[in-house]
Amino acid sequence: MSDLRTDLEATRAQAGKRLAAAATADAVEGLRHELLGRSGTLTALLRGLGGVSAEERPALGQLANQVRRELEAVIEDRLAALRGADLEARLADEALDMSAPGRPVRVGHLHPVLTTLRDLREIFHAYGFEVFEGPEIETEEYNFELLNIPPDHPARDLWDTLYVAEPGSIEAGEPRPAADGTILRTHTSPVQVRAMQALDAPIRVLTPGRCYRYEAVDASHAFEFFQVEGLVIDCDTSLADLKGLLEEVARALYGREVATRFRPGYYPFTEPSVAFDIGCLVCGGSGCPACRRSGWMTILGAGMVHPNVLRAGGFDPDEYQGYAFGMGPDRMTMLRHGIGDIRLFFSADLRFVTQFAEGR
Ligand code: DAH
Repeated sequence: MSDLRTDLEATRAQAGKRLAAAATADAVEGLRHELLGRSGTLTALLRGLGGVSAEERPALGQLANQVRRELEAVIEDRLAALRGADLEARLADEALDMSAPGRPVRVGHLHPVLTTLRDLREIFHAYGFEVFEGPEIETEEYNFELLNIPPDHPARDLWDTLYVAEPGSIEAGEPRPAADGTILRTHTSPVQVRAMQALDAPIRVLTPGRCYRYEAVDASHAFEFFQVEGLVIDCDTSLADLKGLLEEVARALYGREVATRFRPGYYPFTEPSVAFDIGCLVCGGSGCPACRRSGWMTILGAGMVHPNVLRAGGFDPDEYQGYAFGMGPDRMTMLRHGIGDIRLFFSADLRFVTQFAEGR
């Protein structure tokens, strides 16, 4: 039965040519299936061995196995060659042109309010103040009581405060304030007491940080804003020191020509208390809508630390005294740049923020 031999030889020759011509690894795999698969050409021929005479069978069997091994080897070689060529092509394709000019990187810069905070830190640093931070989630005790604001005080208006919810009460569909009196701080003043409890006199600290109030948002009110608190505790501080310091700070921040004035004010945690104004930077003091035609703008509250607050901080008011002030850097930044709406600070509008690139 030399027919089988002829078929085997023909398959060997044809398969060799077709494999050499296969252009992709997929095509080679297809041929492997077609030739050597369970219902492939060679498999069918091998089945034909059963009908071959006993004399011819060994030689034909040997030839069939040889053809199978050859084809397997050719398939592997062809796959290796195609993979190599593929890699070469990809390497050529993905080569980096190191001489091409780079794409410009967009460099960010500080938000204008953060620039004011940074400037304030630098200015106060020159007067010996170090930064002392406190928690944004406070207790009613620190936010109010220890600052000489008792529970029935009007300044404690419940609606002015954002409470932290009692754990589980939201999930239960009945949100209520945490029983331990945890709130979001409404000002940075509670850090005064924390600083007094943590540090020894003399104290000179500056506390920048976020505060929160239950506030109807408009052009000059946000429910989230910054404050910068200052506290000095020593044996012989006076209102004159406070005055001199704040005048110097205002000039450092806004320029030599700025006019300043103190007015009597009221805060439960200072006695006496003052409000500190600077001459309106929009109209130069002649009166305009920005300063409500007064020619002045209030940038902070301040005063001599109340004896009760000194006691809360662990200091004897007969031995120590001090002054404190609380500034509104959002407002100060609005004045600095003539920004008419506080909401712009939170707008994430690049057309707004990219105007302040000097704060890099
Ligand atoms: N905590 C006050 C507020 O939020 C601001 C303030 C006033 C802070 C007088 C002070 C101060 O330290 O002495 O309105």
